Amino acid sequence: MKKFLSIILITLFVSTVVGQATASAFSEKILNVAHRGASGHAPEHTILSYELGEKMKGDYIEIDLQMTKDGVLIAMHDETLDRTTDGSGHVKDHTIDEIKQLDAGSWFNERNPEKASEDFVGLTVPTLEEIFIEFGKSTKYYIETKSPEVYPGMEEELLRLLNKYGLTGKHDRVLLQSFSQESLQIIHELDPSWPLVQLIRAADSDNITDEQLEEISTYAIGVGPNHTRISEEDVARVLQYDLDIHPYTVNNPEVMHELLDWGVTGLFTDYPDVLWNVLKERQTGR
Ligand code: G3P
Ligand code: CA
Repeated sequence: MKKFLSIILITLFVSTVVGQATASAFSEKILNVAHRGASGHAPEHTILSYELGEKMKGDYIEIDLQMTKDGVLIAMHDETLDRTTDGSGHVKDHTIDEIKQLDAGSWFNERNPEKASEDFVGLTVPTLEEIFIEFGKSTKYYIETKSPEVYPGMEEELLRLLNKYGLTGKHDRVLLQSFSQESLQIIHELDPSWPLVQLIRAADSDNITDEQLEEISTYAIGVGPNHTRISEEDVARVLQYDLDIHPYTVNNPEVMHELLDWGVTGLFTDYPDVLWNVLKERQTGR
């Protein structure tokens, strides 16, 4: 009887461990990615937003990259300055000195009066190097090459800075992502040790073929589809290829629960505090 019980317990233990390993080849933990920082609470892609992302227990701060006229990588989602600063025009047409003059916080107060704060007025656009200096190895970074076709050489500059600050691809401190397969393949060729995530545009997220997954698994550790366009079957299919799946951008706790029930291995969210509570509820029982 004792022997029988031991076999059952060992079997359960092994299947649990294997189950976790199968759920995520990259990490056994469900990743809480603070999208543009805690951008539901503070102006996206500011140091304050990243600090809040850390405080609210995001595992990674997500950073979109653009490149200035003089070749400096900055944290910004859009190719233009208009939406998130008091400037205008394309990032590529402005020097870093010009961009540093801009207010990157007041727009948030105007758009979200209920969340407005004096602390946001006059925040500046951070460079990637400033972010690394500020946070060092105290946080994890999930960095996206945006519009790489507009910024030739951005991948080399990104890897130069990562290496300069001792953030290598040999551990889980950094994940690199892009909608551009070409950009990810440039990085992969420069240094195959970087963990890469292939983002999938909304229009393609409900139609990821087995051939695509097969190809993606040759250079990336996971995919990032739009969460509104995927099904439980899509999640299962991605996991079968031993790829992680980190849907973007999920702010509703019920939707978080549903996607987690389906087996996603991480989520991008503007509210890392909300996701943290959801993950805690699931650990302690709803
Ligand atoms: O990087 C994941 C998600 O952020 C992709 O969409 O447009 O917010 O960069 P976007
Ligand atoms: Ca992004």
